[in-house]
Amino acid sequence: MAVRYRNFQPVDTDSLLTLWDQARTAGYAPVYSLAEVLASCNQDHAITASDGDQIVGFAVGRTAHEQGWVVLLMVSDTHQGQGIGGRLLGELEIDMAKAGITKLSMLVADDGKSGVLEKAGFADLKHLKYFEREVSVSEKEREILTNLGGRVLARDLWGKIAGMKNEKEMLERRLVLPLADSRLAETFGVEPPKAIVLFGPPGTGKTTFAKAVASRLDWPFIEVFPSRLAGDPSGLAGGLREVFNTVNELENGVVFIDEVEEIASKRKGDPPSPTQGVTNELLKLIPAFREKPGHLLVVATNYIRALDDAFLRHGRFDYVIPIGLPDEEARRSIWGRYIPATALPNIDLDELVSRSAGFSPADIEYAARKASQRALEQSVYEAQADTSESSTTATHHYLWAIGDTRRTVSDEIIGEFEQDIKSVGRL
Ligand SMILES: Nc1ncnc2c1ncn2[C@@H]1O[C@H](COP(=O)(O)OP(=O)(O)OP(=O)(O)O)[C@@H](O)[C@H]1O
Ligand SMILES: [Mg+2]
Repeated sequence: MAVRYRNFQPVDTDSLLTLWDQARTAGYAPVYSLAEVLASCNQDHAITASDGDQIVGFAVGRTAHEQGWVVLLMVSDTHQGQGIGGRLLGELEIDMAKAGITKLSMLVADDGKSGVLEKAGFADLKHLKYFEREVSVSEKEREILTNLGGRVLARDLWGKIAGMKNEKEMLERRLVLPLADSRLAETFGVEPPKAIVLFGPPGTGKTTFAKAVASRLDWPFIEVFPSRLAGDPSGLAGGLREVFNTVNELENGVVFIDEVEEIASKRKGDPPSPTQGVTNELLKLIPAFREKPGHLLVVATNYIRALDDAFLRHGRFDYVIPIGLPDEEARRSIWGRYIPATALPNIDLDELVSRSAGFSPADIEYAARKASQRALEQSVYEAQADTSESSTTATHHYLWAIGDTRRTVSDEIIGEFEQDIKSVGRL
């Protein structure tokens, strides 16, 4: 009897499942999951081959703009070698051409059984490799995240932090390792951290590190802005509680509170200050937050001395981590970021790096902009016969700008910071 080809119908589903199981048992490694294939059967394009009452093959495809993808091509063991695969592809192509495709593609396992495709006119592009990764946030979570103002960050932020080797290694070992593989941590009796404090002078990269940790873990990043919560109908304390509750609905998340001293400063005075209720609320929220795995609270402060003593007491924060001024390598990279690419090869970076010791990243940015502005003005208003002056920035512009920039972080602040590391640092 002749094999017939027609569009897939829902009643064919059982046969497809049977063939799928047969093929899997025989070692077939499908690229698309069964759920994907079934979705395309019902919504996209699918052809069924039947021989009398027996269903003997399927071709399933979906379109992506002008490119069509074959998501399944399968012929029963009993009907191999009869050209059914090729016919199925032909019928599928006709069906999909109506959707405007100009190209039909297929991914197959690299096991050499692609003869039917070559016969059907498909070229084997052997230089291709297949990559895949899980999407970290589900559709439902995305909605929760949007409501929280949270987002999934780019994946490479960790690698973009230049220098700061000690800080990075510390965070990698204490935070990322146990959080990324909590089962391994458990084997060693390590309780993954739930909350940390980052402290250090302004502009040293605390926010940058908090984001980089989220990026490294591939967890969504949720920044809490106390100033925005203040407008909440239930007040700042209520708003804070609401955020923490909502975060609990996410499987994973890094919650970040910057300038936490604003809402957790030393409780003092009688009558109590308005922020006292908020400090109390936060103190209550942290233990509850700690109970749920898969979440990390990061708070940052420039002024750890102002924090309420109870806040830093053991049991709330696992680590209290200092983030200091950028080291040489970090300064080099930050300079590199602000110097025009055309100027960079002629700049004495070593000199800039050593002369900018004690600068914060923000100071470097400021000095770099100032140097650029000066070079621009000079080239327009002062360039006369002197052709030795290049048409971009030069080392001397930067050195001048460094000399003209006041460090944000004074020696006094550095002194205090070093004392703080001794008195409250906890690594
Ligand atoms: N190690 C680094 N490598 C490259 N750029 C950095 C590094 N550290 C900080 N920066 C850059 O410096 C700027 C300031 O960093 P960031 O905002 O993280 O500091 P902060 O400690 O959070 O500051 P603040 O105390 O003002 O909140 C950012 O533009 C950041 O991208
Ligand atoms: Mg910050």
